[in-house]
Amino acid sequence: MQHSARYVITFAAAICAFCSIFVASSAVLLKDRQEANRALDIQKKVLIVADLMDEKESLPAEEIRRRFEKNITPKIIDVATGSPVDGVDPATFDQREAAADPKTSRPAPPNAAKVVRIPNHAQIFEVIEDGALSAVILPIEGKGLWSTLYGYLALAPDVRTINGITFYEHGETAGLGGEVDNPRWKALWKGRQAFDDQWQPAISLVKGSAGPPDQDPHHVDGLSGATITSRGVTNLLAFWLGDDGFAPYLEQLRNQKGT
Ligand SMILES: Cc1cc2nc3c(=O)[nH]c(=O)nc-3n(C[C@H](O)[C@H](O)[C@H](O)COP(=O)(O)O)c2cc1C
Repeated sequence: MQHSARYVITFAAAICAFCSIFVASSAVLLKDRQEANRALDIQKKVLIVADLMDEKESLPAEEIRRRFEKNITPKIIDVATGSPVDGVDPATFDQREAAADPKTSRPAPPNAAKVVRIPNHAQIFEVIEDGALSAVILPIEGKGLWSTLYGYLALAPDVRTINGITFYEHGETAGLGGEVDNPRWKALWKGRQAFDDQWQPAISLVKGSAGPPDQDPHHVDGLSGATITSRGVTNLLAFWLGDDGFAPYLEQLRNQKGT
C-alpha cells in the first residue's frame, strides 16, 4: 500500500512530536533524581578521600548519607578572605554554577591550570572524628589534555600533609590521563607535603617515579604516557593551594592552631 506524501510527513511529524514530549518530560521528571544522585556521588567521593569509605566498598545510599552526616561538615567560605560565610546553605550551593556567573565570581588572573573564573564562595568540607578536626577537603579543578578535571584534595589538620586526592569528573583518556582514577596511583599521595617551609605550594608530578613520601615529600609519580594530564594536575594544585585559591582559608586554620 502506498501512502501519500502528506500522510508520510504528518506521520513523521507526529512521531517527532511524541518523542520530543517524551524526552522533555523524562528530563523534567528525572531532574530531581539526577540531582540527588549527583549529590550522593559527591558525598561518596568526599568519604573516600577522607578515608571514611573504601573505594571498592559498595554501600547503600542511606549508609553513605549516614557516614557523611556523622563525620563531614560542609562549609561555605569566602575564597578571598578564607572566612566562613553565613546564610548560604551548603546543601543547595553549587560552586560550579557560582563560578560561571559573573555576579558570583571574578575573572582569574592568567594561570597554568587554565582556571577562568574564581567563585566568590567555595564549599569545603571539614572532617570531624571523635570531636576533633581530622582533615580538610578542598575542591580542585583545572585543565588536563582533553577536559577539565574536578576533584578533591584532603589535607591533614597540619594543612600541609596530604591525606588523599580524588577526581570525580574528567574526560581524560582511559589508561592514559584517566589513570588519575587508579587507586594505586591515588595511594601514592598519602603523606606527601603540599607546601614548602615558606608555605608556598610545592607538590608536583614528576616524569617516572618519585621516592617514598619521607624522602621525596613534594613529588608524586607522573602518569605514564600522559605528560599533559600530569602537568595539569600539578598546575591545578599550585593554583588552588595558592593565594587565588585556598591559601587564605588554610592560613586561617593555621593561625587558629597556632602553627
Ligand atoms: C588517543 C590518544 C589519547 C591520549 N590521551 C592522553 C591523555 O588523556 N592525557 C595525556 O596527557 N596525554 C594523552 N595522550 C598523549 C598526548 O598526546 C601526548 O603525547 C602525551 O601527553 C605525551 O606524554 P609522554 O611524554 O608521557 O608520552 C593521548 C594520545 C593519544 C594518541
